[in-house]
Amino acid sequence: MNETLKVLETRRSCRSFKPDMIKKEELDAILRAGTYSATGMGKQSPVIIAVTNKELRDAISEENRKIGGWPEGFDPFYGAPVILIVLADKAVRTHIYDGSLVMGNLMNAAESLGVGSIWIHRAKEEFESEFGKEILKKLGIEGDFEGIGHCALGYAAAPAKDPAPRKENYVYYVD
Ligand SMILES: Cc1cc2nc3c(=O)[nH]c(=O)nc-3n(C[C@H](O)[C@H](O)[C@H](O)COP(=O)(O)O)c2cc1C
Repeated sequence: MNETLKVLETRRSCRSFKPDMIKKEELDAILRAGTYSATGMGKQSPVIIAVTNKELRDAISEENRKIGGWPEGFDPFYGAPVILIVLADKAVRTHIYDGSLVMGNLMNAAESLGVGSIWIHRAKEEFESEFGKEILKKLGIEGDFEGIGHCALGYAAAPAKDPAPRKENYVYYVD
C-alpha cells in the first residue's frame, strides 16, 4: 500500500488531545492541503478560520457545548488546542460539498503528519448565531457563509480506537 492510501485508511478520529500546541509548520501544511481540495467549478467557496487563541478556542467550545446540549464542563473539542473552522459561501451551489472536501483534506493531511484530528459538528448553528456572526465580522469576512465543520487538531493523548468493520455492501461493482 502506498503512503497516501495508508494515510486514508489509518486516519481515525482523536477524542483525547494533549494541550500542547502543534508546530507552526504542521499547522500551515495542514491548512495548505485544505486550500488545495477540489471545489465545484473551481470556485473555492470555503474559508478556513484557524483558531489557536485559547480564549477564542474556549469560547467556541462553550458555544458548541450549549448547542449540543451537554452539561457544563464538557469540552466537545476533547482538549484540542487548535480548531480549524470551515465555512463556505452559500452563494455557490456546491458549497456544502466543497467545505466537506476541505474538511477531509485537513483531517488526512493531519494524519500524514502524525497530528490527531476530528470533525466536530454544529458549525452551522454556531455561525447562524450572533456569536458566530461576530467572529466573522471581526475578521472582516463578508457575505453569507455557512458553517460546515470544525476540524479539531492536536497531538493525541491516547491511541485511537480501531476502526469499525466496514459494512457489507458498501461497494457495488458493475462489470
Ligand atoms: C459530518 C461529521 C460530523 C461529526 N461530528 C462529530 C462530533 O460532533 N463529535 C464527535 O465526537 N465526532 C464527530 N464526528 C466523528 C465521527 O464520529 C467519526 O468520524 C466516526 O465515528 C468514524 O470514526 P473515524 O473517524 O475514527 O473513522 C463527525 C464526523 C463527521 C463526518
